[in-house]
Amino acid sequence: MTSVQRKLRKPPGPDAPVVLGIDADTLATLQQIQLDYGDMVSITKPNGRLAYFVNDATEVRRILTRRHSKYNKGPGFERVKMLLGNGLIVSDGDVWRRSRRMIQPAFSRQNVHRLMAVMVECCDRRALHWAELAANGEHCNITAETSDFALELILISIFSSDYHARIMTEGDNPFAFLSRDSTRDLSVVMKVRHLRILLLSIIEDRRSGRGSEEFDFLTMYLQATDKNGQQFSDAELLDELMTLIVAGFETSANTLNWVWYLIAKHPDVEAKLIAEAAEYLPCVSALSADSLANMTYTQQVLEEALRLYPPVWLFTRRSHEEDHLDEYDVPLDTDIYLSPFILHRTPHYWPDPDSFDPERFKVTDQSKNDRPYFPFSLGPRRCLGEYFSFLEMKVHIGLLLPRFRLQLIDESQPQLELGINLRASRDIYMKPTER
Ligand code: HEM
Repeated sequence: MTSVQRKLRKPPGPDAPVVLGIDADTLATLQQIQLDYGDMVSITKPNGRLAYFVNDATEVRRILTRRHSKYNKGPGFERVKMLLGNGLIVSDGDVWRRSRRMIQPAFSRQNVHRLMAVMVECCDRRALHWAELAANGEHCNITAETSDFALELILISIFSSDYHARIMTEGDNPFAFLSRDSTRDLSVVMKVRHLRILLLSIIEDRRSGRGSEEFDFLTMYLQATDKNGQQFSDAELLDELMTLIVAGFETSANTLNWVWYLIAKHPDVEAKLIAEAAEYLPCVSALSADSLANMTYTQQVLEEALRLYPPVWLFTRRSHEEDHLDEYDVPLDTDIYLSPFILHRTPHYWPDPDSFDPERFKVTDQSKNDRPYFPFSLGPRRCLGEYFSFLEMKVHIGLLLPRFRLQLIDESQPQLELGINLRASRDIYMKPTER
């Protein structure tokens, strides 16, 4: 019997078509479907396409690691494509493989360590601002602050002194709208076009030797070569730079936003973080890769925040080869939905899943390695900036928390805003005081 004749083995699922996007309704639908049908569910979309919702830890791991080459990026990336062209996050197959090989060396630990001074510089600017707010008794919009911090950091890490000389020439950061404007309409197209022209002129200057010669991602991207000795073209470089900016800033900014909220809600956690910073980071000159590595409790807090609020809360894939998962067939062109948000809060993996408890990630707790946890994805497409972002977040919390106490103005739990990224639905305001 050929595979065409054999009856398709599908997991259980609803008979009626189900609409799936990347939004709050989709989260509610997937959560209900999980309750009704379990961890492997088949769904028919309104256009007749077959989709699987996979919440089984083993199968999720399999899709992202050993079987990753059978899947391309899935639905929902159309809007992202408008911004990122064919950069790493959206590309597939040979194009992705070539770019990943060219770019990956830029993210070595050694290179990221060289950017720690920029992380400190960006914290200093926040500290200056917060000290002013504290002196005047004013509130601080921590959502905007973490966003400004992470955006400035990634831009200086890419462009070094060109950031001030070429990008911030008009006062406002021309990239700021990327997080503030979730629409993808014509005005955004125009702003993106403007940014690409600006980036292109910086690239041209660098190629001709007129630009900065400092150590930064742009230099490393410009020098990267593929196995034939070819460098990125200008168009490829533009897509990769936009990808780096978009991938590298909202994710860390959103995480830090939640971290400040969670710290303010848990004074016991705050006290332990401050004690750890006092031990390993008593002053800026004590900062090193080793001192940050020793800050294991801070690491636990960040990991627990990412469990509860994974910025990339839903991954989609589409099969471009037949596959099978558990005892089920995956035909060609099946859409796959995986959700770190749902898996991270599934009670049989994570007891009392909605509570914030950094002890779950204690280094000595061996069972932590068996629980499904993938805020940075897994396998060959795993986030390239994982180490960079942990360092940036540790420096941020390690330097700013011992200096400032931030109290919530509104104690109520912010709702979730679910788009490509998971955010708080409202800005979080806090009152800073110097300790
Ligand atoms: C808390 C912070 C971050 C989180 C949670 C995060 C999460 C992720 C996830 C889940 C993916 C894979 C998406 C998918 O396969 O559908 C990804 C990809 C990526 N991330 Fe991150 N990210 C973070 C920070 C960063 C930073 C700071 C950078 C750069 C400095 C970065 C650069 C990238 C790149 C280049 C990719 C594409 C990798 C590829 O497809 O080969 N990320 N990230």
